[in-house]
Amino acid sequence: MSEVSVTENAGGPAPAADRLVVLDHVNKHFGALHVLQDIDLTINRGEVVVVIGPSGSGKSTLCRTINRLETIDSGSITIDGKPLPQEGRELARLRADVGMVFQSFNLFAHKTVLENVMLGQTKVRRTDKAKAAEKARALLDRVGVGTQADKYPAQLSGGQQQRVAIARALAMDPKVMLFDEPTSALDPEMINEVLDVMQQLARDGMTMVVVTHEMGFARSAANRVVFMADGRIVEEAEPNQFFNNPRSERAKDFLSKILHH
Ligand SMILES: Nc1ncnc2c1ncn2[C@@H]1O[C@H](COP(=O)(O)OP(=O)(O)OP(=O)(O)O)[C@@H](O)[C@H]1O
Ligand SMILES: [Mg+2]
Repeated sequence: MSEVSVTENAGGPAPAADRLVVLDHVNKHFGALHVLQDIDLTINRGEVVVVIGPSGSGKSTLCRTINRLETIDSGSITIDGKPLPQEGRELARLRADVGMVFQSFNLFAHKTVLENVMLGQTKVRRTDKAKAAEKARALLDRVGVGTQADKYPAQLSGGQQQRVAIARALAMDPKVMLFDEPTSALDPEMINEVLDVMQQLARDGMTMVVVTHEMGFARSAANRVVFMADGRIVEEAEPNQFFNNPRSERAKDFLSKILHH
C-alpha cells in the first residue's frame, strides 16, 4: 500500500501538509457575471505564485475571496487545512494570517507609521505595546523605512508607504501574503524599491500570491505563473515555460500585447 502511494506522489501533487491555500471548484457571480468559474488552485507552503491576465479577468476577486473580503457561491477554500471562518474573531484572525497588500496603501492617515504597524498586533494578536513597538521597528528597518517611524503616512513617498503597508501585514506573522498590483499606483522610480522588498520576502520563504504586471518580477521570483481570462484559470506553468512557450492562444495574445511596449 505505502509503496503505491509513494509512486503516485512522485511528480504529482504536494503532500497535504505542504498545501497551504486550496481553492476547490470555486464559483462566484456578481449578478449575471460569472466572475470566478470553477477555480481549482493550490498554493504550497513557500511557493510564490504570480497571477496575470487581462483587466476584468477576476484576479482581484480571486485574491479577495482568499481572505474572505468576498464570499463565494460554491466550492471551498481552505487555509492550512481549515475552511475559511464565516465571521467574528475567527475571521479577524484569518485576515491576520492572510496578509494583504493593495494597490492603494490603505494606511491609517491619523496614525504614525509606527502605530500603523503596531495596531493589528495589539488589537488582533493581543501583543503588549512594548513588544509590538519593538517588532514594528524591526520590520520597518527590514523594509528600509526605519527612519520614517514617527512620521505620518502623508509625509512619505508612495514607495515608502507601500513598504509600510508590507511591514504592517508582516507584523501579524501571516501564513501567506497576497499582493494585488502593489506597484501599479507608484511612480516608476519607486516601483523597484517595493519589488526588491517582495523579492527578499520570496527568498526568505514567504508564501505569496502576487497579481502584477511586472513581468521581470514574475520571471525572477515566481515558482509558478497562473494566467486568468474571463474568470477562468486558462494556463498554469513555470515562468520560463509560460513566457517562452505559452500554450493557449489567450496567453499568447496577452503576452504579445504586454511584452511589446
Ligand atoms: N463588487 C463588484 N460588483 C460587481 N461587479 C464587480 C465587483 N467587483 C468586480 N466586479 C467585476 O468583476 C470582474 C472581475 O473584476 P476583478 O476586479 O476581479 O478583475 P481584475 O482581473 O482584477 O481586473 P484589473 O486587471 O482591471 O484589476 C470585472 O468585470 C468587474 O467589473
Ligand atoms: Mg484587479
